[in-house]
Amino acid sequence: MTTIFDFYKKKAANEKITMVTCYDYTSARIVAQTDVDCLLVGDSAAMTMHGFKDTLPATLEMMVFHTAAVSRGAGNKFLISDLPFLAYRKSLSKNITAVQSLMQAGAQAVKLEGAAGNISFIRHLVESGIPVMGHIGLTLQMIHTLGGFKVQGKTQESAARLKEEALQLQEAGCFAVVLECVPNALGKEITQLLSIPTIGIGAGPDTDGQVLVFQDLLGLNIDFKPKFVKTFVNGYEQVKNGIDAYVNAVKTGAFPQDEHCYQNK
Ligand code: KIV
Repeated sequence: MTTIFDFYKKKAANEKITMVTCYDYTSARIVAQTDVDCLLVGDSAAMTMHGFKDTLPATLEMMVFHTAAVSRGAGNKFLISDLPFLAYRKSLSKNITAVQSLMQAGAQAVKLEGAAGNISFIRHLVESGIPVMGHIGLTLQMIHTLGGFKVQGKTQESAARLKEEALQLQEAGCFAVVLECVPNALGKEITQLLSIPTIGIGAGPDTDGQVLVFQDLLGLNIDFKPKFVKTFVNGYEQVKNGIDAYVNAVKTGAFPQDEHCYQNK
């Protein structure tokens, strides 16, 4: 069973941490049998599972539903769940209720985006026994203030702001921080600056770990191929070919055969 202490140990031992997103029970059963360290029920579920163009339509109800399904299949894997758009920007009581719902659905930690305005809430969660993963850089819940899907931290000023935010998240008690879409050099600098691990996505090779979206790494999503994605399997073609093979077998009478049929005796 992975715990937050394994994250620290891996950073200290210079061992890479691997994380993959997951949204459903069947996929979680597969991921549970892999060597990956942890699963993220990301608010990217709004895009990958529900077809929205960004993560803003993700709701707490949606995240609880996916977290519960993943947790039933995830075995011993460490499970982190995203707090969706604005679910942690309400009253303390509503924010806590949101976290409670995700933890009671099976998450072992929550992730939230940004540092500004979140620090005292993160402290409160950590003091309440909730592991928190931070997330800075291209934080999609702020897509309209960031001006779209853009690499962050390219100017000296924005790089300095991201470094400051990373330190604030560490200071507030986050056990790890996701760095999304920042130049390699900044990914490296923040990783060296922090004593907690960084998990990168589009942040270069020097972060303490990497995260990819399940559908992206398996090549299931042919419409979306940002620079930082590597597809490790041609999943789209393989699934499509499997379904076409089934259709063909039905049409030609090759399926079902005796072994697939019930007899009277
Ligand atoms: O929602 C998500 O998939 C994420 C990853 C990109 C880190 O937050």
